[in-house]
Amino acid sequence: MSTYYIVLIIIGMIILCILIFGLPRKKSIRKPNIEGIENPEVAKAFAKMTNILPFKILRKKIINRISKLNPSGRLFDVGCGSGNLIVEISEKFPHLELIGMDISAEILDRAKLRADEKQKKIEFKEGTVEKLPFSDESVDFIVSTLSLHHWINPQKGFQEIYRVLKKEGAALIFDFRRDSRKFFYGFLTFITKIIAPKPLKEINEPLGSIQSSYTLKEVENILSKISIVNYTISPALAWMYIQIKK
Ligand SMILES: C[S@@+](CC[C@H](N)C(=O)[O-])C[C@H]1O[C@@H](n2cnc3c(N)ncnc32)[C@H](O)[C@@H]1O
Repeated sequence: MSTYYIVLIIIGMIILCILIFGLPRKKSIRKPNIEGIENPEVAKAFAKMTNILPFKILRKKIINRISKLNPSGRLFDVGCGSGNLIVEISEKFPHLELIGMDISAEILDRAKLRADEKQKKIEFKEGTVEKLPFSDESVDFIVSTLSLHHWINPQKGFQEIYRVLKKEGAALIFDFRRDSRKFFYGFLTFITKIIAPKPLKEINEPLGSIQSSYTLKEVENILSKISIVNYTISPALAWMYIQIKK
């Protein structure tokens, strides 16, 4: 490769770093999103979009975090959507008893299909995080990704997660953060306007997800109102990990 191209690549990388890390954080009012993904066209488009590279990279990061927490026993995915994560979890941790739950029957059908295609034994349940279909202290590990910003009552959702967690159990909740750098708003605007399938464009997704997500302070505020004491919030570029231990 000639020196000219090397210089061009270095300049390109410097510009990208300035855009990602240099642009200020967005200050905006939260715009609540739809709760469940019920529309069949939207469910189909969502299932398709979660196969693109940025989502695959995020799932890999989440699975690495789950690994560090040494999951065992019964793992429960709240708002499992089209089931990509729970199917990948079943590949990585075949010893776990897995249950995926979602408020939308439509998207659960897609998750069941995915699990059947991969021949994975996963139980799927319809229900809402605000009233989890489990008895007290009956689940070892709870994971939830990109669902928190949809919950109508996040305080009740966290309370329920804590209620069903066994003693010594752990929960990992991953979501966008609204106080992201402006670059990510630009990136998600580009995906929404150009790349996303039409049914998602029509409901302003995935941009709507970041606009309806919480800031770190807002999550802290929600958690401070309930009796969860052992938690950490780890901020990242455009997302955050909320880790709860019981
Ligand atoms: C953006 S999708 C994310 C799906 C999946 N976790 C993933 O990361 O690909 C959000 C999911 O949360 C579900 N959901 C929204 N509100 C919910 C609630 N109150 N209880 C359970 N699931 C909910 C939606 O139906 C949807 O499938």
